[in-house]
Amino acid sequence: MKWKTALEEMKPYKPGRSIEDVKRTYGLTHIVKLASNENPYGTSQEVLDYLDQNPLQYEIYPDGHSSRLRKKLAEKHGVSEESILFGNGSDEIITIICRALLDEGKHTIMATPTFPQYAHNAKIEGAAITEIPLKDGLHDLDAFLKAITKDTTVIWICNPNNPTGTLMPVGEIVDFLHHVPEDVLVVLDEAYFEYITDDQHVDSISLLEQLNNIIVLRTFSKAYGLASMRLGYGIAHPAVVTPLNKVRNPFNNNSLAVAVAEVAVQDKEFIEKCRSLNDQQRMRFKQFAAHHGLHMFDSQTNFVLIQVPSDADEASEFLLQQGYIVRSGNALGTPGYIRVTVGTEQQNDGFFTAFDKFLQQGGSHEE
Ligand SMILES: Cc1ncc(COP(=O)(O)O)c(C=O)c1O
Repeated sequence: MKWKTALEEMKPYKPGRSIEDVKRTYGLTHIVKLASNENPYGTSQEVLDYLDQNPLQYEIYPDGHSSRLRKKLAEKHGVSEESILFGNGSDEIITIICRALLDEGKHTIMATPTFPQYAHNAKIEGAAITEIPLKDGLHDLDAFLKAITKDTTVIWICNPNNPTGTLMPVGEIVDFLHHVPEDVLVVLDEAYFEYITDDQHVDSISLLEQLNNIIVLRTFSKAYGLASMRLGYGIAHPAVVTPLNKVRNPFNNNSLAVAVAEVAVQDKEFIEKCRSLNDQQRMRFKQFAAHHGLHMFDSQTNFVLIQVPSDADEASEFLLQQGYIVRSGNALGTPGYIRVTVGTEQQNDGFFTAFDKFLQQGGSHEE
């Protein structure tokens, strides 16, 4: 086969270990998965009731326009219906953007470390990639500006950033956007938007009133607790959405995902509850890290990147044996750290006990 040369050096996505696999390997009965930033509180009760009461017409193709959900989201965000692009998870929107704007001879800019799917998809398209190291955990937007060339077509800003959890103030992003050429698309990936509690933060969708070259990505996978449904969306000027829609597969969202998202989007109380509980629990991680003298990035998400006083793989393996699945920073470009999803109070109690055990064994930084 004459595969694209870019594929030679790439690896397929390696999912984290499943709960069943960990149970089997370590002979454990109770496992807590804190590795993929899912919602530990599940999904809205209204969604669960809907699923109980509404059988689907399985033989019928989905509404390829997702019209009812489109209307609800347009109202929620105060944008036109033509400003919305749906994806099979925001992952697919990232793929669509890369297919539409990147290929050999084109150039893209992103932070490092950041969400790996930007680089992954850009590589497949054969584009040149500039990765700008984070500065104090934040995107170094001055360096981004300097990296722009005549071939640059897409710039990625993950806000809050995965894996650090750090939030760029929208004011800084606005200054940056005013210096970016109008024919370069800036992607503001806000998968964790609903978890932000910083009251200075401004909803970046309002920037669409002044700027045509941005797309804001949101997802139902995180706070909405619907990761299994695979539904994300982008909001952009219709002049950006129309070309991206040419790349989108006609039925990329399944009927069930769209139907439950329509219900989920109405349950504002659920999102508020999750934001508040997550904030309280995130604070406990902050206190834990401070108590043990471990560095932790200031997170505005439902995960934290926390230092370990040893190799990150070793720490993750220890925690795994105690029944807690977390992500080693070695795989995320942050050696010396682990990324942990903020769980429920009870899950976190157990995690802190296991981590304490590790610190006692492996040498705590506690003074
Ligand atoms: C920053 C960021 N963007 C996008 C995604 C993709 O989310 P989904 O495809 O589930 O919408 C994730 C998932 O972890 C993420 O962390």
